[in-house]
Amino acid sequence: MRPGPLIFGLATYIPGVYKLRSKGTGGTVSARYCYSVWLRHRVLAGKSGFTDAPQVIAELGPGDSLGIGLAGLISGSETCYALDVVAYADAERNEKIFEELIQLFSRREPVPDDSEFPEVLPALESYSFPSDLYSAGQIKTALQKERLTRIRKAIRSLGSPETSSCLSYAVPWTDSAVLPENSVDFIISQAVLEHVDGLAMTYRALFRWLKPGGHMSHVIDFSSHRLTDVWNEHWSYSPFLWKCIRGKRPFLINREPFSTHVRLAKENGFLPLMDRKVMDESGIRTGRLAPSFRHLTEQDLKIKKACMLSVKPKGGGKDA
Ligand SMILES: C[S@@+](CC[C@H](N)C(=O)[O-])C[C@H]1O[C@@H](n2cnc3c(N)ncnc32)[C@H](O)[C@@H]1O
Repeated sequence: MRPGPLIFGLATYIPGVYKLRSKGTGGTVSARYCYSVWLRHRVLAGKSGFTDAPQVIAELGPGDSLGIGLAGLISGSETCYALDVVAYADAERNEKIFEELIQLFSRREPVPDDSEFPEVLPALESYSFPSDLYSAGQIKTALQKERLTRIRKAIRSLGSPETSSCLSYAVPWTDSAVLPENSVDFIISQAVLEHVDGLAMTYRALFRWLKPGGHMSHVIDFSSHRLTDVWNEHWSYSPFLWKCIRGKRPFLINREPFSTHVRLAKENGFLPLMDRKVMDESGIRTGRLAPSFRHLTEQDLKIKKACMLSVKPKGGGKDA
């Protein structure tokens, strides 16, 4: 075991230590990253027949900016809900990323690929701009001055009592009543579901928020996020040790494997449409699992990352 993460976890119990070291989340500080992530999820969903630009979108865990959802708004969506547990995004960065995203869409720039973002999923077969999903005419309409002015105004009024019709940022969100039931066409998250505490409640909320026929697309990283030497060694740590490593951080990783997400999606009534897995066989095997992780399958131990796309059935699923 590496001592560093444990020492840091314990140190977070000293007031001020976590705040001093917390630097934000990284990815969504770049407009090209946000553009790439939004279009990658849209392309993948498009392959499953979800080709219309979603009118109402929601992003779980946007991190340092609302750029992924802003890419959705710029490209034609009418409403975007962003939900997080820590308010990392600020007005200045949101505005900067927004202006850069407009430039990327107006040039119908190719999707930034693996040479620029080698760690980002989902990987695509083609990184050319998805003209089948967003025709030149659609982009021209979406980029009309009045539309962009309305979105810009919504970014500036975030956090003020003035309610905006097209963009909202709920932090921290704690229950599903934060969004209207059956209201969202497309829910997206990038590197978030592995951090969520209360995964069962979150899946219930995701199902509640989606319209019947609505889609959700999640990229999940099951690795230990470099907290251990071997990528999946976190499954050999006891709950107590993991609690010490997490310390007072608002979130770390929930250590749930791929099979938990498959089960929760199914239990809540989602229909799986597609998953893309990144496999890694170099990790620990069953014999080294902590007792609380002995239920993990051989496959769980090899799935390092996955992109999971599902739909809420038209009939409304189990709640119908
Ligand atoms: C690794 S960052 C990813 C940020 C961003 N999606 C990206 O691609 O750069 C994880 C994000 O998940 C958020 N998060 C953690 N628990 C969450 C929860 N229960 N609901 C929503 N967001 C959550 C964190 O606050 C953080 O913004």
